[in-house]
Amino acid sequence: SSNINILGIETSCDDTGCAIINGNGKVLSEAIHSQHLMHLRYGGIIPDIAQDLHRQYMEPTVSKTLQDAKLTMEEISAIAVTLKPGLPLSLAVGMKYAKHLGRRYDKPIIPIHHMQAHALVARMHHNISFPFLVLLISGGHCLLAVVQDVSHFQLLGESMDCAPGEVFDKVARKMKLKNVPEYSKICGGQAVEEAAAKATNPNMFKLPLPLAEYKDCNFSLNGLKTSVMYHLHRKEVEHKVVAHELIPEVNDLCAAMLMATTRHLVHRTQRAMEFCQENKLISEKNKQLVVSGGVACNNYIFSALQLLCNETNYQIYRPFPKLCTDNGVMIAWNGLEKWKKGLDITPVTDFNTLDIE
Ligand code: KG4
Ligand code: ZN
Repeated sequence: SSNINILGIETSCDDTGCAIINGNGKVLSEAIHSQHLMHLRYGGIIPDIAQDLHRQYMEPTVSKTLQDAKLTMEEISAIAVTLKPGLPLSLAVGMKYAKHLGRRYDKPIIPIHHMQAHALVARMHHNISFPFLVLLISGGHCLLAVVQDVSHFQLLGESMDCAPGEVFDKVARKMKLKNVPEYSKICGGQAVEEAAAKATNPNMFKLPLPLAEYKDCNFSLNGLKTSVMYHLHRKEVEHKVVAHELIPEVNDLCAAMLMATTRHLVHRTQRAMEFCQENKLISEKNKQLVVSGGVACNNYIFSALQLLCNETNYQIYRPFPKLCTDNGVMIAWNGLEKWKKGLDITPVTDFNTLDIE
């Protein structure tokens, strides 16, 4: 299997990611072009701009990845590319380029589900067997699932409104965190984590525990976001802050928000563990929880989940931070896992089945 090389392409949101993995699961090269700073300037992702930037960076990112791996397209076995979910305009760029390469060099395409890739990449550096429980938390998603196999996921619950990363990003923007020089170039979630670490009195803000009465595994973060926005506004009025100023309690409010979000994520994960036990979805002898997606980079959230896992006898796994956020490696890895099992390998003659909705 050492002469197998899988090229992975990811363009579902605002990162143009690419990587090559060989048959032994070794990353030969990887490249990522992030549009983060550009979108920060506009206060959010503008789909048309994201598409233009993907178009601009797609070819150079793939070329650089091939060059760094000292490989040519002839030596690639298959192209793994994100099919869904994501921004349709962004997804289309990666898929279109993958089809172009596939036709030109007669290579099959392996379509990849972005969320499955986030979950499975944990198996790259850790010995995790099927089935396992996964908590995926990012800027676009929030879900709990049992991963039965490479392409068999059983969804247990998901967010009924927004995702945690989205809440952090929106609140960080309203708080004007990027006006603090040390936070000017990092994402909202990371800025919130760093500000929260400096808090002295987070308990001055009371925030609700969403869905406390419900026994299912769904999430809801909208109420929490609204409460935080309310406290922020209240303090802005109280202190008469102007244009670029932050409220003096900004660190405490970040900590309160992070603590409340964590409480909710832990509560739902605990519920999922109970559900798995009741329905015998996870073996009592091999309880494993994978946490992935951009928000999994958060050490406060991860530590709280670690405590839960200590109590419930679960092993907890988290990919390296670089693999938690969007990247090409997870797409190539998922491609390799599918290649080994002969799943979804689509020859050039069937490319018409790979349309982005
Ligand atoms: O997985 P990802 O790169 O893209 C999506 O698929 O959404 O996740 C990006 C999200 C952003 O919302 C960002 O604010 C959040 O992950 N994030 C964090 C941290 N690092 C990134 N949230 C909380 N704490 C962090 N340290
Ligand atoms: Zn993602």
